[in-house]
Amino acid sequence: MAKIVNLVKLLKLKDLGESDKSDECKRLANNSADYQVHGNNIIIGGEADLSLEWQERQDASIERYEAASYNQNEAIPRLFGCFIAIGHQDEDIILDIGCGVEPRVPLYMRDLDPKNFFGLEPLKKLVARDFPCLVGAVAEEIPLKDATVDSLLLATSMDHIEKIDIALKEMLRVLKPDGRILVWTGLYDVEFLAHAKSFYPIVFGGSLARRVVRSLLLPLEFTLFLCRLAERKRRMALGIALDDVHFRYYSRQRITADIEACSLKITRTIVVPGSTSMFIEAQKSSEQYKQN
Ligand SMILES: C[S@@+](CC[C@H](N)C(=O)[O-])C[C@H]1O[C@@H](n2cnc3c(N)ncnc32)[C@H](O)[C@@H]1O
Repeated sequence: MAKIVNLVKLLKLKDLGESDKSDECKRLANNSADYQVHGNNIIIGGEADLSLEWQERQDASIERYEAASYNQNEAIPRLFGCFIAIGHQDEDIILDIGCGVEPRVPLYMRDLDPKNFFGLEPLKKLVARDFPCLVGAVAEEIPLKDATVDSLLLATSMDHIEKIDIALKEMLRVLKPDGRILVWTGLYDVEFLAHAKSFYPIVFGGSLARRVVRSLLLPLEFTLFLCRLAERKRRMALGIALDDVHFRYYSRQRITADIEACSLKITRTIVVPGSTSMFIEAQKSSEQYKQN
């Protein structure tokens, strides 16, 4: 624990030389892989042992994450922050897996003002982050020592991870015995999409003119929506990808099963009303605790 706290403090110290920062990174790591430090980015050497398909999906996503329209709706990230806040302690060491390429601390953490927050992000794009981040690392191989993290966050990243069973085992390894995993995921169950697409966007979404036009076109919109739902159901049943960025499409049942398959105990869940977003908190079950 002390090593990670030190790392976070070191990275925040402006007068510390680059070589001192690198030494601290090496002490923190499991092996002797090469590390480079640029500002708050700790660049992990080597390539992840993942498929070409995963790499292609990653490459296809960057533009989307950088678009001005990405994460424009602040409500759900802020609600996820509230979900994280329950049970959060000021000194907790928090690792955000798949934190993205936004330079600022993510919206879901901003109100908590965390002291020991750091990210892990496979995309090697270097941005001037205002928090430390393990760049080029993947959830399937977390470059941290065992039992060093209090909370692991997966904010819309779990469905992008290729080998989720291996990644969850890695998360259990780096998590302290009483640590927790907090997941925010989009659900693909058609009923949640139906709720999210109901009256709210028609009554409150966009300008008045847009809302009036949408109300008038409601029968047409509804028919198209039903066609989309049927098509989505068909593709999901056949295991056909719905887009070119995600690795899997979670239903409520499937994400619960994936988490529980790793001997994690789900302690809290919520589906945000009127949306397809689900938040899940899970902890090491006592059996898992004994195994470790
Ligand atoms: C939809 S973005 C979410 C970014 C950020 N958490 C947010 O809420 O804006 C999904 C993220 O998962 C990351 N990701 C994909 N595969 C991963 C893996 N194997 N391990 C860790 N992160 C991964 C992507 O690079 C991307 O940053």
